[in-house]
Amino acid sequence: MLSGKEGRATKKSMEILVALGEIYGAKNLVRVSSVQVSGVSYKNLGDAGIEFLRELATDGRARVKTTLNPAGMDLVGWRSLGIGEDFARKQLEVIDAYDKLGLEISCTCTPYLAGNEPGFAEHIAWSESSAVVYANSVLGARTNREGGPSALAASLTGRTPLYGYHLDESRSATLAVDVGAKLESAEDFSAMGYFAGKVVKNGVPYFRGVRRAGLEELKTLSAALASSGGVAMFHMEGVTPEAKGRVSGIEAVSFESRDLREATSGLNDSGDPDFISVGCPHCSLEELAKIARLLKGRKVTREFWICCSRAVKLQGDERGYSKLIEASGAKFACDTCMVVAPIETMGFKVVATNSAKAAHYMRNNGLRVRFWPLNRCVLEATKAR
Ligand code: F3S
Repeated sequence: MLSGKEGRATKKSMEILVALGEIYGAKNLVRVSSVQVSGVSYKNLGDAGIEFLRELATDGRARVKTTLNPAGMDLVGWRSLGIGEDFARKQLEVIDAYDKLGLEISCTCTPYLAGNEPGFAEHIAWSESSAVVYANSVLGARTNREGGPSALAASLTGRTPLYGYHLDESRSATLAVDVGAKLESAEDFSAMGYFAGKVVKNGVPYFRGVRRAGLEELKTLSAALASSGGVAMFHMEGVTPEAKGRVSGIEAVSFESRDLREATSGLNDSGDPDFISVGCPHCSLEELAKIARLLKGRKVTREFWICCSRAVKLQGDERGYSKLIEASGAKFACDTCMVVAPIETMGFKVVATNSAKAAHYMRNNGLRVRFWPLNRCVLEATKAR
């Protein structure tokens, strides 16, 4: 591959992987079974990104199952979301290049809910940070926090350098978090992740004392950990598959009710939102069901986006949730999200969301944010103005 016998894109990809392997002291490459590529929104890629992808697409092809992160718009319903023609044209050029490369155009940060779910101990190369944390921690698969180019290189070669979270020794906890706070909602897990990410930075937190955690709690915890810190993996006693035996001789911090309150209020600015969005990471079917129940018979009074993968939206269609949601005037934002779509250029000033990660990044994009539970986001979206 490195010699160029298998084409220019393969050679370039292998050069990227070899350089990475040398930096991190990897002794070998390892085959990967699944890849997830970030760097899909035109907002982040720009024209230089399109050029790079087009060049690779002249002779590069995915060798393993590869899915994409959210794009900058709903690839079908972008007009109804208010996306401009120029942005849409550029975004479709990006998608066209990925399509030529043989990637699956399922643009989601929850690939594990949309047909790309690796098994325990499988080596993979994923680049969406929330999905990396979920895959390592909840599924027990093995991936580093890849960048867009290194994940794409893994797709075009089927390999990644063997270092970091691919190796047993990197997967032990570095800090215990004793949870004294009562966690009552997924948003509480999100706030806890935001707190813990700041403390543990790029280490591996080990949560103790959490009584119960389902998919929705674990996916939003994963996202928050990866946004305030550089976390790629966590353990949770009695919940995650590798938690046993990973917690000896490490320091501990506590997470009490006061910390929960502070983490939540720290993500709240002031103001009445003109844009509300849920689904960071992309909504599960269970979340669609909950939103549909809350919206039944109501009308939204401000822009309200529900971000999810197209695969989950289709399941919502079959169960009648989508119809109830759309009847309220709320909009599905499939293939995209409130952070990678160019909402800050669309006149919105104050935004509300139920995700610490989304609040963090939307604030970085110059917006004022409210961080509310899902119920409150939905009900405020229907409140008289
Ligand atoms: Fe997904 Fe966008 Fe959040 S990519 S994790 S919904 S910031």
